[in-house]
Amino acid sequence: MTVDPNAATQGFPSPEPARPRPNPARYLVPALVAAAVAIALGAYGKVHDPAGTSFNLAGFSSTGAVKSWLATGAFFFAIVQLVSALMVYGKLPGPRWSAKLHRWSGRVAFLAAVPVAVHCLYALGYQSYESRVLWHSLMGCFFFGVFSAKMLLLRSERLPGWLLPIVGGLVFTALTIIWLTSALWFFRTFGVTT
Ligand code: HEM
Repeated sequence: MTVDPNAATQGFPSPEPARPRPNPARYLVPALVAAAVAIALGAYGKVHDPAGTSFNLAGFSSTGAVKSWLATGAFFFAIVQLVSALMVYGKLPGPRWSAKLHRWSGRVAFLAAVPVAVHCLYALGYQSYESRVLWHSLMGCFFFGVFSAKMLLLRSERLPGWLLPIVGGLVFTALTIIWLTSALWFFRTFGVTT
């Protein structure tokens, strides 16, 4: 039997256009990068001798105070991230600039967190002498892994709608646990001082 190439134009239903098959690399690469980043940070924190160096900023009483306030700033902007994401997804009423607010609050949160984490990794290392500190070290490494995955996924097209909210939620959850196990602990132990 020969197929008439003009069949579709003669009233016959045309065959469904083949759907592009999802390319697993779109998920695999970010997942592998996340694992590599988290494991590399943890391994570095574990194998090097913690330098124990401290630094200070004018107006602050200790390294811990500077770090706790920076971490609190990062956590504040992470909450802005959560609220602005809910606005972008239409779950909360929000202004037209919600997406811009989401991008900028993310950048500020990340910039505040990086110097704190660099000091943690370099000066204190990966520690597990009590469960709070273990969770803090674990989540510190996980945070940078899952953050890298989120940045890579943002560049991908045709992602399932649930993926970014889940990965973004993991980034937020990690930062929340980091803050609870460090800055909140610091303020409760030494008082809310600068
Ligand atoms: C977003 C990332 C991170 C933030 C915002 C953060 C924040 C903080 C803060 C505010 C403190 C309390 C101040 C101090 O004792 O110096 C702290 C302590 C500490 N951090 Fe981090 N940190 C992060 C990542 C990490 C990572 C990746 C590690 C190691 C793998 C780590 C290990 C530690 C340790 C061992 C302590 C001392 C805990 C204690 O004895 O109370 N942190 N961190």
